[in-house]
Amino acid sequence: MKNILITGGAGFIGSHLVRLMVNKYPQYNIINLDKLTYAGNLANLKDVQYSPNYRFVKGDICDFIFIQKLFAEYNIDGVIHLAAESHVDRSIKDPFSFAQTNVMGTLSLLQTARLFWEGSFEGKLFYHVSTDEVYGSLKDDGTFFLETTKYDPHSPYSASKASSDHFVRAFYDTYGFPVKISNCSNNYGSYQFPEKLIPLFINNIRNNKPLPVYGKGENVRDWLYVEDHASAIDLIFHKGRKGETYNIGGFNEWKNIDLIKLMIKVVDKFLGRPEGSSESLITYVTDRAGHDLRYAIDSTKLHNELGWSPSLQFEEGIERTVRWYLENQEWLDNVTSGDYQRYYDEMYK
Ligand code: NAD
Ligand code: TYD
Repeated sequence: MKNILITGGAGFIGSHLVRLMVNKYPQYNIINLDKLTYAGNLANLKDVQYSPNYRFVKGDICDFIFIQKLFAEYNIDGVIHLAAESHVDRSIKDPFSFAQTNVMGTLSLLQTARLFWEGSFEGKLFYHVSTDEVYGSLKDDGTFFLETTKYDPHSPYSASKASSDHFVRAFYDTYGFPVKISNCSNNYGSYQFPEKLIPLFINNIRNNKPLPVYGKGENVRDWLYVEDHASAIDLIFHKGRKGETYNIGGFNEWKNIDLIKLMIKVVDKFLGRPEGSSESLITYVTDRAGHDLRYAIDSTKLHNELGWSPSLQFEEGIERTVRWYLENQEWLDNVTSGDYQRYYDEMYK
């Protein structure tokens, strides 16, 4: 039996990973540690909440004393660390909480695991989940981010993630502490908080609300279905080499405006509106400060070393995603109204 701590498991990617690990590995105890910030929602995990190999613990990764008690209580063997503040626009307004959670929170986990595992790192692992945004911004010239690309973060979000990646590597170099890191491109799929482009726009199209396109809509993002990210994490956690970084992405670049038009087409089709009619909702707004032009990830290393490939074509993934948000209006309405927080705040008071 292995005791695996997953942090941020009530968030978007974390909930998909928790579901995968709980269902696929009954021999593991999966402990989901989450502070339940605005982005954490236990409704994302209703289908596994009573599984015998699953525990939820509400707590803050920045609380060093609490994390030490948690390690002792659950005798943690492995950590998959996803808890973070994750939205670029919020980081522009409030950089402090990004430094606090993403940098200090990661350090608090690293230091606890090091002290707890000291003596023998055999069979132990700290897996840090990071983003391609640490590599900065690419020109529109067909180049890609490699694992060796120099870090060049521009937003407070990416600067805080870059900093946490450096701490993880420093622990490997300094203490021989067992780590793995992955840097993934933009994810999409079910249970994503509707402040991010894809769920926000699906919800706004549904409600006939304006679609705020930053700048000219010419920025490029590289999109990966969230379940493919979870499967890559599972593979790297079990088979990846220690001390290594793996890029995760599906070679799937989309200019924002093209993606937005695709979403409009699919949502219009599902809602029985004339296809493309919701394009009238497109509203060009002031660009995001420091807006990175293009992200594109080269995941050849992960493919060649571990045989990973994404399972889904993008058009199919978008159809599936649109259908999920339209069929789960209660989830979306609870999240946008804030009801989900009041319910769980009461439960975990
Ligand atoms: P999210 O914002 O949906 O979820 C983050 C989770 O962390 C929430 O459940 C929140 O309650 C929890 N959390 C926040 N602060 C905490 C704290 N102090 N203590 C404990 N829990 C806390 O984020 P996401 O999109 O699921 O991203 C998860 C991870 O993956 C992040 O580290 C992010 O940087 C990384 N990542 C995200 C993407 C993406 O496209 N979303 C891409 C690559 C990497
Ligand atoms: P987002 O989902 O916030 O992810 P990230 O900034 O981490 O890539 O944004 C994706 C792209 O969509 C990014 O180029 C910014 C743009 N965008 C808009 O044009 N309007 C919006 O309302 C949002 C949230 C994003």
